[in-house]
Amino acid sequence: MASASTLPVLPDTDPSSCVFDAFRTAIAKRVSEALPLTIEQAYSGVDYGKKGVDFTIALPRFKLPGKIDELAGKVISKFEPDEWVSSITHDKAFLHFQLNSENMVRQVLQQVHARTHLTESGRPEYGTNTAGKGKKVVIEYSSPNIAKSFHVGHLRSTIIGAFLANLYESCGWDVVRMNYLGDWGTQFGLIATGFEKYGSKEELEKDAIKHLLEVYVKVNKDAESDPNVKAEAAKWFKRMEDGDESALVNWRNWRELSVKKYEEQYDRLNVHFDIYNGESMVGKEWQDKALERLNEMGLITDAEGAKIVDLAKWKLGSAVVRKKDGTSIYLTRDIGGAIERYEKYKFDKMIYVVSSQQDLHLAQFFKVLELMEFPWAKNLQHVNYGLVQGMSTRKGTVVFLDQIIKEAASVMYEQMMKNEEKFAAVEDPEMVAQEIGITGVKIQDMAAKRINNYTFNWDRMLSFEGDTGPYLQYAHVRLASIGRKNPNLLPLPPPSQMNTDSLAAMPHAREIAFLLGTYPDVIKTALKTHEASGIVTFAFRLSHAISSAWETVIVKGEEDLEKARARMFLYECARDVLGAAMRLLSIRPLERM
Ligand code: ARG
Repeated sequence: MASASTLPVLPDTDPSSCVFDAFRTAIAKRVSEALPLTIEQAYSGVDYGKKGVDFTIALPRFKLPGKIDELAGKVISKFEPDEWVSSITHDKAFLHFQLNSENMVRQVLQQVHARTHLTESGRPEYGTNTAGKGKKVVIEYSSPNIAKSFHVGHLRSTIIGAFLANLYESCGWDVVRMNYLGDWGTQFGLIATGFEKYGSKEELEKDAIKHLLEVYVKVNKDAESDPNVKAEAAKWFKRMEDGDESALVNWRNWRELSVKKYEEQYDRLNVHFDIYNGESMVGKEWQDKALERLNEMGLITDAEGAKIVDLAKWKLGSAVVRKKDGTSIYLTRDIGGAIERYEKYKFDKMIYVVSSQQDLHLAQFFKVLELMEFPWAKNLQHVNYGLVQGMSTRKGTVVFLDQIIKEAASVMYEQMMKNEEKFAAVEDPEMVAQEIGITGVKIQDMAAKRINNYTFNWDRMLSFEGDTGPYLQYAHVRLASIGRKNPNLLPLPPPSQMNTDSLAAMPHAREIAFLLGTYPDVIKTALKTHEASGIVTFAFRLSHAISSAWETVIVKGEEDLEKARARMFLYECARDVLGAAMRLLSIRPLERM
């Protein structure tokens, strides 16, 4: 039998990390030998098939002379099955290809195994690629405002951003994970004023995030009825902007304590940052330089004392870059901040994960940077997302991240208690309930296209039925239990010494192997679209395929040891890949529940 090395390796393919690259090349080779096409041209036409078809080519796309039927006939008449392709059929404008099942199953499973167990660190390698090698991406996400509520927009940014950071890393990029806190602005003058009256050191130490919001709400009310409070606050903030150390000490402490609290909560969500940046940290000099340059380029006009950049030509209105009183603003901080980050990181790409409510704001500051002729401005990207309705706990509206985590855990805990028998067997029900609860929240958030709005629904997202987070965790736990339930089969022999041909003959087993083979492509597509939903869909398809296989592809009770081992190997590979997909989504797969 010919080996993989007899196939050419085409540009942008890598059979050593994606087995299907080799199978597609084999298909392209036959087509290019029968029709006037190069192998690369043919390759670009090989797509996944539908409904049980492995791969498909739509012949009209090549725009070749001659009738479609004749072209198809040429490919088919030359065809002889080999270790790559077992059959070709012709259906209207399409050619359908079935892969050689034995070779497909063997190669996919061997690759999953080899790449999963490649590193000591335990990080699964299967599915990943090195396309981004040598490139750097800065990803900014979460970015809540200190002393204000953590709303669902921040939650979405946190979840989607964490996923994107993992995704880029999986594709070989050097990733800088950045949290850009809303830690500056007039509200801090207000809090400083209010803190003298309402603040408590103890409360602050206990839960800074909560206490600062309380103070903010109270002093805000005062300010509404008493203009002196507002004036006092403005004075404070001016002192802060001028760098007056006595006005900054408290603020610094608040920021530090809030970050500490957030870090704990992010940790529970399995979300991490390399840098806690913030609006306060954007250097004044960068903002001034930006304004200077805009001025020199003749891009600034004066509007009653304020400075604006006219973006009407691009239907982006006009952007105020400096207020009348000279204090800095959100937009200018973003302009200066981007320049500063470029100087610091020399990134190849920078992604802002921010709600679509701020589409205009991002489009404006991207445009301003482009008008300033920064060549890297084209490498800025806004990854946006839709609104979420109805996120509340049973006690009321959500204002803090830890309320969401707690509610997810407690709703899940009650759900689990409904099944007394199972519940009694769980070792650490609190931890398990929290993990599954968080999984439910994340899956609900990433299941559909980012831009879609959705309604937050605890019951639906935390049910074990349907395409939910708990269902995924359950699928993983069930796979993880196979080894524990069949110790007599362990350890499995090395893959090269296992005969997996029996799997190829079982449709349910073959389907699982085929799905595993698609995973490297699923990752590549996600990188192009910045959509987590493709990974979520993959995880559910795989889980469904596994659940359909349990009855026929049995391990326990199979007397032929070779067959039983091959099946166990298949399930172990499935567990590794399902676990890898969950981790990519920032979910911690459970071993037991
Ligand atoms: N803190 C802002 C908010 O809560 C989001 C920050 C988005 N990022 C940015 N570079 N503007 O609305």
